[in-house]
Amino acid sequence: MPSLLAKRLPWTKAPLIINAPMANSATAPLALAVKRAGGLGQIGSTNDLAALETELQTLSTSSQLTRTSDGLLPIGVGFLAFLANLDRAAEIVRKHRPAVVWLFAANELGDYAAWAERARQASPASMVWVQVGNVASAVRVAREARPDVLCVQGADAGGHGLARSAGLVALLPEVRSALEREGLGDVMLVGAGGMADGRGAAAGLALGAEGVVMGTRFLGARETKLHPVWREAVLAAKDGGQETVKTMVFDELRGESVWPEGYDGRGIVNESSEDFRTGAGMEHVRKQFTEASQQADGGYGVGGKGRAAMWAGTGVGLVTKEQSAAEIVEEVREGIIKALEEARARS
Ligand SMILES: Cc1cc2nc3c(=O)[nH]c(=O)nc-3n(C[C@H](O)[C@H](O)[C@H](O)COP(=O)(O)O)c2cc1C
Repeated sequence: MPSLLAKRLPWTKAPLIINAPMANSATAPLALAVKRAGGLGQIGSTNDLAALETELQTLSTSSQLTRTSDGLLPIGVGFLAFLANLDRAAEIVRKHRPAVVWLFAANELGDYAAWAERARQASPASMVWVQVGNVASAVRVAREARPDVLCVQGADAGGHGLARSAGLVALLPEVRSALEREGLGDVMLVGAGGMADGRGAAAGLALGAEGVVMGTRFLGARETKLHPVWREAVLAAKDGGQETVKTMVFDELRGESVWPEGYDGRGIVNESSEDFRTGAGMEHVRKQFTEASQQADGGYGVGGKGRAAMWAGTGVGLVTKEQSAAEIVEEVREGIIKALEEARARS
Protein backbone atom coordinates (compact mmCIF):
# COMPACT_ATOMS: atom_id res chain seq x y z
CA MET A 1 0.00 0.00 0.00
CA PRO A 2 1.53 3.39 -0.94
CA SER A 3 2.47 5.52 2.03
CA LEU A 4 0.51 8.66 2.92
CA LEU A 5 3.50 10.63 1.82
CA ALA A 6 3.66 8.99 -1.61
CA LYS A 7 0.06 10.09 -2.14
CA ARG A 8 1.12 13.72 -1.70
CA LEU A 9 3.77 13.18 -4.36
CA PRO A 10 1.49 11.73 -7.01
CA TRP A 11 4.14 10.95 -9.65
CA THR A 12 6.10 8.72 -7.25
CA LYS A 13 6.07 4.96 -7.01
CA ALA A 14 6.16 3.05 -3.73
CA PRO A 15 8.41 2.45 -1.89
CA LEU A 16 9.41 6.11 -2.00
CA ILE A 17 13.05 6.81 -2.91
CA ILE A 18 14.42 10.32 -2.45
CA ASN A 19 17.77 11.75 -3.40
CA ALA A 20 19.34 13.99 -0.76
CA PRO A 21 19.58 17.66 -1.84
CA MET A 22 23.38 17.63 -1.88
CA ALA A 23 24.68 21.16 -2.37
CA ASN A 24 26.81 21.47 -5.53
CA SER A 25 26.26 17.80 -6.42
CA ALA A 26 22.50 17.27 -6.69
CA THR A 27 21.64 19.56 -9.60
CA ALA A 28 18.92 19.59 -12.28
CA PRO A 29 20.02 16.41 -14.14
CA LEU A 30 19.90 14.27 -10.97
CA ALA A 31 16.57 15.69 -9.78
CA LEU A 32 15.05 15.14 -13.21
CA ALA A 33 16.33 11.57 -13.54
CA VAL A 34 15.13 10.57 -10.05
CA LYS A 35 11.73 12.15 -10.70
CA ARG A 36 11.39 10.37 -14.03
CA ALA A 37 12.17 7.07 -12.31
CA GLY A 38 9.28 7.65 -9.90
CA GLY A 39 11.24 9.02 -6.96
CA LEU A 40 11.45 12.43 -5.33
CA GLY A 41 14.31 14.19 -7.08
CA GLN A 42 15.89 17.08 -5.21
CA ILE A 43 18.34 19.90 -5.88
CA GLY A 44 20.68 21.23 -3.22
CA SER A 45 21.87 24.79 -2.72
CA THR A 46 24.46 26.89 -0.90
CA ASN A 47 24.51 30.63 -0.27
CA ASP A 48 24.73 31.07 -4.04
CA LEU A 49 21.01 31.18 -4.72
CA ALA A 50 21.65 32.53 -8.22
CA ALA A 51 23.08 29.10 -9.07
CA LEU A 52 19.94 27.47 -7.66
CA GLU A 53 17.79 29.80 -9.72
CA THR A 54 19.64 28.69 -12.86
CA GLU A 55 18.99 25.02 -12.06
CA LEU A 56 15.32 25.69 -11.38
CA GLN A 57 14.99 27.68 -14.57
CA THR A 58 16.30 24.64 -16.47
CA LEU A 59 13.72 22.42 -14.80
CA SER A 60 10.84 24.88 -15.07
CA THR A 61 11.32 25.08 -18.82
CA SER A 62 12.06 21.37 -19.33
CA SER A 63 9.62 19.62 -21.60
CA GLN A 64 10.27 16.46 -19.55
CA LEU A 65 8.74 17.91 -16.40
CA THR A 66 5.06 18.73 -16.10
CA ARG A 67 3.65 20.49 -13.07
CA THR A 68 1.30 18.67 -10.70
CA SER A 69 -2.43 19.44 -10.67
CA ASP A 70 -1.62 21.86 -7.82
CA GLY A 71 0.77 23.71 -10.12
CA LEU A 72 3.86 22.47 -8.31
CA LEU A 73 7.20 21.63 -9.87
CA PRO A 74 7.51 17.91 -9.02
CA ILE A 75 10.87 18.14 -7.28
CA GLY A 76 12.34 19.17 -3.93
CA VAL A 77 14.70 22.07 -3.24
CA GLY A 78 17.10 21.97 -0.32
CA PHE A 79 18.13 25.10 1.57
CA LEU A 80 20.87 25.32 4.18
CA ALA A 81 19.09 27.64 6.59
CA PHE A 82 22.27 28.98 8.25
CA LEU A 83 23.72 29.96 4.92
CA ALA A 84 20.94 31.04 2.58
CA ASN A 85 19.20 34.39 2.59
CA LEU A 86 15.59 33.80 3.67
CA ASP A 87 14.06 36.64 1.62
CA ARG A 88 15.78 35.47 -1.53
CA ALA A 89 14.90 31.82 -0.83
CA ALA A 90 11.23 32.76 -0.34
CA GLU A 91 11.28 34.62 -3.64
CA ILE A 92 12.63 31.52 -5.40
CA VAL A 93 10.00 29.31 -3.77
CA ARG A 94 7.27 31.75 -4.84
CA LYS A 95 8.51 31.81 -8.40
CA HIS A 96 9.14 28.09 -8.93
CA ARG A 97 6.79 26.43 -6.41
CA PRO A 98 8.68 23.16 -5.79
CA ALA A 99 6.66 20.27 -4.35
CA VAL A 100 9.06 20.09 -1.40
CA VAL A 101 10.99 22.80 0.42
CA TRP A 102 13.71 20.98 2.40
CA LEU A 103 15.44 22.78 5.27
CA PHE A 104 18.59 21.80 7.12
CA ALA A 105 21.15 23.21 9.53
CA ALA A 106 19.55 26.36 10.91
CA ASN A 107 21.73 28.36 13.28
CA GLU A 108 19.03 28.03 15.93
CA LEU A 109 16.25 25.44 16.02
CA GLY A 110 13.80 28.33 16.45
CA ASP A 111 14.72 29.62 12.97
CA TYR A 112 12.84 26.79 11.25
CA ALA A 113 9.47 28.26 12.22
CA ALA A 114 10.20 31.46 10.29
CA TRP A 115 11.52 29.51 7.31
CA ALA A 116 8.46 27.24 7.28
CA GLU A 117 6.09 30.19 7.52
CA ARG A 118 7.78 32.07 4.69
CA ALA A 119 7.84 28.95 2.51
CA ARG A 120 4.13 28.41 3.09
CA GLN A 121 3.28 32.03 2.34
CA ALA A 122 5.34 31.81 -0.84
CA SER A 123 3.83 28.54 -2.04
CA PRO A 124 0.95 27.21 0.09
CA ALA A 125 0.69 23.87 -1.70
CA SER A 126 4.39 23.01 -1.26
CA MET A 127 5.35 20.69 1.58
CA VAL A 128 7.94 21.75 4.16
CA TRP A 129 10.47 19.13 5.20
CA VAL A 130 13.12 19.62 7.89
CA GLN A 131 16.12 17.35 8.43
CA VAL A 132 16.91 16.77 12.13
CA GLY A 133 19.43 14.62 13.96
CA ASN A 134 18.17 13.98 17.49
CA VAL A 135 14.96 13.38 19.41
CA ALA A 136 14.78 16.75 21.16
CA SER A 137 15.16 18.75 17.96
CA ALA A 138 12.59 16.54 16.19
CA VAL A 139 10.02 17.32 18.90
CA ARG A 140 10.83 21.03 19.05
CA VAL A 141 10.84 21.54 15.28
CA ALA A 142 7.62 19.52 14.91
CA ARG A 143 5.94 21.68 17.54
CA GLU A 144 7.18 25.08 16.39
CA ALA A 145 7.54 24.79 12.62
CA ARG A 146 4.80 22.20 11.99
CA PRO A 147 6.65 20.64 9.03
CA ASP A 148 4.79 18.14 6.87
CA VAL A 149 7.77 15.81 7.12
CA LEU A 150 10.80 15.43 9.34
CA CYS A 151 13.80 13.71 7.81
CA VAL A 152 15.49 11.83 10.65
CA GLN A 153 19.21 11.76 9.95
CA GLY A 154 21.34 9.08 11.58
CA ALA A 155 25.07 9.10 12.33
CA ASP A 156 26.02 7.03 9.26
CA ALA A 157 24.98 9.83 6.90
CA GLY A 158 27.47 11.28 4.46
CA GLY A 159 28.06 15.01 4.57
CA HIS A 160 27.03 17.17 7.51
CA GLY A 161 25.07 16.18 10.56
CA LEU A 162 25.12 16.47 14.33
CA ALA A 163 28.47 15.51 15.84
CA ARG A 164 26.63 13.85 18.73
CA SER A 165 24.32 11.53 16.87
CA ALA A 166 22.84 8.05 16.95
CA GLY A 167 22.40 5.50 14.20
CA LEU A 168 19.05 5.49 12.43
CA VAL A 169 18.03 2.11 13.91
CA ALA A 170 17.70 3.59 17.38
CA LEU A 171 16.93 7.17 16.42
CA LEU A 172 13.97 6.88 14.09
CA PRO A 173 11.72 4.75 16.32
CA GLU A 174 12.54 6.93 19.34
CA VAL A 175 11.62 10.04 17.35
CA ARG A 176 8.34 8.41 16.28
CA SER A 177 7.47 7.47 19.87
CA ALA A 178 8.39 10.91 21.21
CA LEU A 179 6.27 12.68 18.59
CA GLU A 180 3.29 10.49 19.39
CA ARG A 181 3.72 11.08 23.12
CA GLU A 182 3.74 14.83 22.52
CA GLY A 183 0.62 14.77 20.35
CA LEU A 184 2.66 15.46 17.22
CA GLY A 185 2.10 12.11 15.58
CA ASP A 186 0.72 13.66 12.38
CA VAL A 187 4.22 14.71 11.29
CA MET A 188 5.43 12.17 8.77
CA LEU A 189 8.98 10.78 8.91
CA VAL A 190 11.51 9.80 6.31
CA GLY A 191 14.92 8.40 7.19
CA ALA A 192 18.47 9.23 6.11
CA GLY A 193 21.87 7.83 6.94
CA GLY A 194 23.53 4.62 5.88
CA MET A 195 20.85 3.22 3.59
CA ALA A 196 22.59 2.43 0.34
CA ASP A 197 20.75 -0.59 -1.07
CA GLY A 198 17.41 -2.38 -0.84
CA ARG A 199 18.30 -4.13 2.40
CA GLY A 200 19.15 -0.96 4.30
CA ALA A 201 16.21 0.87 2.77
CA ALA A 202 13.85 -1.98 3.77
CA ALA A 203 15.15 -1.62 7.32
CA GLY A 204 14.39 2.11 7.18
CA LEU A 205 10.80 1.39 6.20
CA ALA A 206 10.52 -1.22 8.94
CA LEU A 207 11.67 1.43 11.44
CA GLY A 208 8.69 3.57 10.47
CA ALA A 209 10.00 5.76 7.65
CA GLU A 210 7.59 6.66 4.87
CA GLY A 211 10.46 7.14 2.43
CA VAL A 212 14.16 6.59 2.08
CA VAL A 213 16.59 9.47 1.60
CA MET A 214 19.90 8.49 0.05
CA GLY A 215 22.91 10.70 -0.57
CA THR A 216 25.91 8.40 -0.66
CA ARG A 217 24.33 5.87 -3.02
CA PHE A 218 23.60 8.65 -5.50
CA LEU A 219 27.29 9.66 -5.49
CA GLY A 220 27.57 6.69 -7.84
CA ALA A 221 24.96 8.16 -10.22
CA ARG A 222 26.23 9.53 -13.52
CA GLU A 223 23.88 12.51 -13.18
CA THR A 224 25.41 13.60 -9.86
CA LYS A 225 27.99 16.36 -10.22
CA LEU A 226 31.22 15.17 -8.63
CA HIS A 227 34.95 15.53 -9.16
CA PRO A 228 36.09 12.31 -10.92
CA VAL A 229 38.58 11.48 -8.14
CA TRP A 230 35.82 11.83 -5.55
CA ARG A 231 33.60 9.45 -7.50
CA GLU A 232 36.45 6.94 -7.91
CA ALA A 233 37.14 7.14 -4.17
CA VAL A 234 33.47 6.42 -3.42
CA LEU A 235 33.44 3.41 -5.74
CA ALA A 236 36.70 2.09 -4.28
CA ALA A 237 35.93 2.63 -0.58
CA LYS A 238 34.89 -0.36 1.54
CA ASP A 239 34.03 -0.91 5.15
CA GLY A 240 32.59 2.56 5.72
CA GLY A 241 33.28 2.73 9.43
CA GLN A 242 36.97 2.43 8.59
CA GLU A 243 37.25 4.33 5.35
CA THR A 244 35.03 7.27 6.25
CA VAL A 245 35.35 9.52 9.27
CA LYS A 246 33.04 11.95 11.05
CA THR A 247 35.14 14.96 11.89
CA MET A 248 35.50 18.74 11.97
CA VAL A 249 38.72 18.61 9.97
CA PHE A 250 37.17 18.85 6.52
CA ASP A 251 35.22 21.97 7.51
CA GLU A 252 38.31 23.63 8.92
CA LEU A 253 40.51 23.21 5.83
CA ARG A 254 39.78 26.71 4.51
CA GLY A 255 39.59 28.43 7.91
CA GLU A 256 37.12 28.34 10.78
CA SER A 257 34.07 26.18 10.09
CA VAL A 258 31.02 28.18 9.03
CA TRP A 259 28.59 25.47 10.17
CA PRO A 260 26.37 25.99 13.22
CA GLU A 261 27.67 24.72 16.53
CA GLY A 262 27.23 21.01 17.03
CA TYR A 263 27.67 20.00 13.38
CA ASP A 264 30.52 18.06 11.81
CA GLY A 265 30.74 16.07 8.59
CA ARG A 266 31.44 12.55 7.38
CA GLY A 267 33.81 12.07 4.48
CA ILE A 268 36.31 9.62 3.03
CA VAL A 269 39.52 9.24 5.05
CA ASN A 270 42.33 11.09 3.30
CA GLU A 271 45.65 12.73 4.08
CA SER A 272 44.03 15.70 5.80
CA SER A 273 42.01 13.57 8.22
CA GLU A 274 44.91 11.15 8.76
CA ASP A 275 47.43 13.90 9.50
CA PHE A 276 45.04 15.40 12.02
CA ARG A 277 44.27 12.04 13.62
CA THR A 278 47.95 11.29 14.02
CA GLY A 279 48.64 14.55 15.79
CA ALA A 280 49.39 17.24 13.20
CA GLY A 281 47.92 20.58 14.25
CA MET A 282 45.09 22.16 12.25
CA GLU A 283 47.41 24.93 11.05
CA HIS A 284 49.70 22.35 9.46
CA VAL A 285 46.79 20.41 7.93
CA ARG A 286 45.37 23.64 6.51
CA LYS A 287 48.71 24.69 5.01
CA GLN A 288 49.16 21.31 3.34
CA PHE A 289 45.63 21.51 1.95
CA THR A 290 46.14 25.05 0.63
CA GLU A 291 49.27 23.94 -1.24
CA ALA A 292 47.59 20.81 -2.59
CA SER A 293 44.49 22.70 -3.69
CA GLN A 294 46.66 24.84 -5.98
CA GLN A 295 47.65 21.75 -7.98
CA ALA A 296 45.88 20.84 -11.19
CA ASP A 297 43.77 18.21 -9.41
CA GLY A 298 42.46 20.80 -6.91
CA GLY A 299 43.84 18.82 -3.97
CA TYR A 300 41.82 15.69 -4.65
CA GLY A 301 44.98 13.66 -5.35
CA VAL A 302 44.65 10.02 -6.30
CA GLY A 303 44.26 6.73 -4.49
CA GLY A 304 43.16 8.25 -1.19
CA LYS A 305 46.19 10.53 -1.15
CA GLY A 306 44.26 13.74 -1.61
CA ARG A 307 43.63 16.51 0.87
CA ALA A 308 40.27 17.93 -0.30
CA ALA A 309 37.06 16.86 1.45
CA MET A 310 35.10 14.07 -0.25
CA TRP A 311 31.84 13.75 1.70
CA ALA A 312 30.41 10.23 1.89
CA GLY A 313 28.61 8.06 4.42
CA THR A 314 29.32 4.65 5.91
CA GLY A 315 27.30 3.07 3.11
CA VAL A 316 30.16 3.67 0.63
CA GLY A 317 31.12 -0.01 0.61
CA LEU A 318 27.77 -0.77 -1.01
CA VAL A 319 28.35 1.74 -3.82
CA THR A 320 30.50 -0.26 -6.18
CA LYS A 321 29.64 0.91 -9.66
CA GLU A 322 28.65 3.97 -11.60
CA GLN A 323 25.02 3.74 -12.70
CA SER A 324 22.27 5.94 -13.99
CA ALA A 325 20.11 7.49 -11.29
CA ALA A 326 17.12 5.64 -12.76
CA GLU A 327 18.89 2.30 -12.35
CA ILE A 328 19.64 3.16 -8.73
CA VAL A 329 16.04 4.12 -7.97
CA GLU A 330 14.66 1.00 -9.62
CA GLU A 331 17.26 -1.32 -8.10
CA VAL A 332 16.68 -0.02 -4.58
CA ARG A 333 12.90 -0.10 -4.97
CA GLU A 334 13.00 -3.73 -6.13
CA GLY A 335 15.61 -4.54 -3.48
CA ILE A 336 13.32 -3.24 -0.74
CA ILE A 337 10.48 -5.50 -1.79
CA LYS A 338 12.80 -8.51 -2.02
CA ALA A 339 14.37 -7.80 1.37
CA LEU A 340 10.99 -7.37 3.05
CA GLU A 341 9.68 -10.62 1.52
CA GLU A 342 12.79 -12.48 2.63
CA ALA A 343 12.51 -11.04 6.13
CA ARG A 344 8.87 -12.06 6.25
CA ALA A 345 9.78 -15.58 5.19
CA ARG A 346 12.33 -15.76 8.01
CA SER A 347 9.97 -14.46 10.65
C1 LIG B 1 27.99 14.76 -0.75
C2 LIG B 1 26.89 15.08 0.20
C3 LIG B 1 26.41 16.38 0.27
C4 LIG B 1 25.35 16.69 1.13
N1 LIG B 1 24.86 17.95 1.13
C5 LIG B 1 23.73 18.23 1.82
C6 LIG B 1 23.10 19.49 1.70
O1 LIG B 1 23.57 20.37 0.98
N2 LIG B 1 21.95 19.71 2.38
C7 LIG B 1 21.39 18.74 3.17
O2 LIG B 1 20.33 18.98 3.74
N3 LIG B 1 22.00 17.54 3.34
C8 LIG B 1 23.13 17.25 2.67
N4 LIG B 1 23.72 16.02 2.80
C9 LIG B 1 23.19 15.04 3.79
C10 LIG B 1 21.98 14.34 3.23
O3 LIG B 1 20.84 15.17 3.33
C11 LIG B 1 21.63 13.00 3.94
O4 LIG B 1 21.40 13.21 5.31
C12 LIG B 1 22.65 11.90 3.79
O5 LIG B 1 23.20 11.87 2.50
C13 LIG B 1 22.01 10.57 4.10
O6 LIG B 1 22.93 9.59 4.38
P1 LIG B 1 23.68 8.73 3.26
O7 LIG B 1 24.71 9.62 2.69
O8 LIG B 1 24.25 7.60 4.05
O9 LIG B 1 22.68 8.28 2.24
C14 LIG B 1 24.78 15.68 1.95
C15 LIG B 1 25.27 14.37 1.86
C16 LIG B 1 26.30 14.06 1.01
C17 LIG B 1 26.78 12.64 0.92
